[in-house]
Amino acid sequence: MGFCPQCRISEPLAETVKGAGRVEPVGVLSGTIADHRPTGIAEVDRVLGGGVVEAATVLLGGEPGVGKSTLLLQLGDGYPGRVLMVSGEESAAQIAMRARRLGTGDLSIAALADTDAIIEHAREMRPDLLLVDSIQTIATRDLDATMGSVGQVRESALRLVRFAKETSTPVVITGHVTKDGSLAGPKLLEHLVDVVLALDGDPDEGLRMLRAQKNRYGSATNVGLFEMTGAGLVAIGAGDALLADWDGSVAGSVAFPAITGRRALLVEVQALVGVRSQARRLVVNGVDPSRVHQLVAVLDRHAGLRLGDHDIYVNVSNGLRVTEPAIDLAIAVALASSITGVPTGRAAAWGEVSLTGAVRPVRQHKRRLEEVAGLGLIALAPAKKTLIAPLLVEAGLMNVKAPSGGVVAFSSNAQPDALVDTGSVAPARSRN
Ligand code: TYD
Ligand code: MG
Repeated sequence: MGFCPQCRISEPLAETVKGAGRVEPVGVLSGTIADHRPTGIAEVDRVLGGGVVEAATVLLGGEPGVGKSTLLLQLGDGYPGRVLMVSGEESAAQIAMRARRLGTGDLSIAALADTDAIIEHAREMRPDLLLVDSIQTIATRDLDATMGSVGQVRESALRLVRFAKETSTPVVITGHVTKDGSLAGPKLLEHLVDVVLALDGDPDEGLRMLRAQKNRYGSATNVGLFEMTGAGLVAIGAGDALLADWDGSVAGSVAFPAITGRRALLVEVQALVGVRSQARRLVVNGVDPSRVHQLVAVLDRHAGLRLGDHDIYVNVSNGLRVTEPAIDLAIAVALASSITGVPTGRAAAWGEVSLTGAVRPVRQHKRRLEEVAGLGLIALAPAKKTLIAPLLVEAGLMNVKAPSGGVVAFSSNAQPDALVDTGSVAPARSRN
């Protein structure tokens, strides 16, 4: 990476550019216009539909602080080719400092706020990818309007789009999004570009989600997941990634559609009911341990599952933390599946479990249902208040022989331990 920290308009240093020399635009060589070129960041490619497309303009929107500049920098770092990143937000020296923190090495950075100077610079350098951070902090002198105004944002975007088309260079531009979700300025920007990506996430949690709001070259359904760490955005797998190697064929596992941001996010809830032990260990990751205690007691009393004198481990995949009570049923199902040894298959469960053994429908039931159905999963979720035992029967996790309150028996491959009388209630005394 090279730049001149002294002058405002910094010039990339030739020797820092890998493979310096004239690079023919891919389009000229291949003659096609919709070939995706992988960016080097799989989660970004997933959302883009395979990678960036030559001559295409991508707008990356998100609230301040969500990580747009970070992602752009990482994109520049990972991209297989020469990259020019210009920033109207920060000095090249500031970006360079960050770049070093991220381990970025092969990228030309320029601090430029003049749209026409950016384009001129890019025409000279002929990068394989142009990154602009951000649309609100650059302006053209041809307009009197102030930087960040609707007129400037629109005109600068138009000029960058034109540059992309004329030179076949893919261009990624970041844009601040206001609290209400609209790109500062107007929606009109979204119509100028080919792809609109949104980066969002709970600032208190490290999770960041990348979605396509518009994608001229692919579907807009895939989500990219990252965690903001000290070393930048690190990809985490979930949703599609989870399903790629998850089929629910192992007992003690069920999917759960968590609602994060504006989308349902599929996680795997795992439970392991271990040996009977005096210590009765309870080790929980990703959910509130007291919820698990409570569910153990409910399963004891209302489903005849004597879990309380076993070691119990509960885990949510990908290190995610779920606070919504909707995960209750998924935990209960995973526990029941583990103790009976019966896998749930490709199923997702959600619902709030009360102390009376009732399972209540939860918010966003329809959204979760759509998400899960779209992925071909079976939904174990009450549309109206129901009881835990019949739900477990439905899941194939138990057979109620005497529903009136006598013996509850489990499938043939259940552990003998699980064959208990509903009348005998073991206290769910467990500790961490
Ligand atoms: P930034 O990319 O500047 O956000 P945006 O461009 O969307 O405004 O990053 C914002 C936050 O991310 C900032 O508060 C610092 C944090 N951060 C990390 O936690 N780790 C990192 O490696 C980097 C570069 C930033
Ligand atoms: Mg920024």
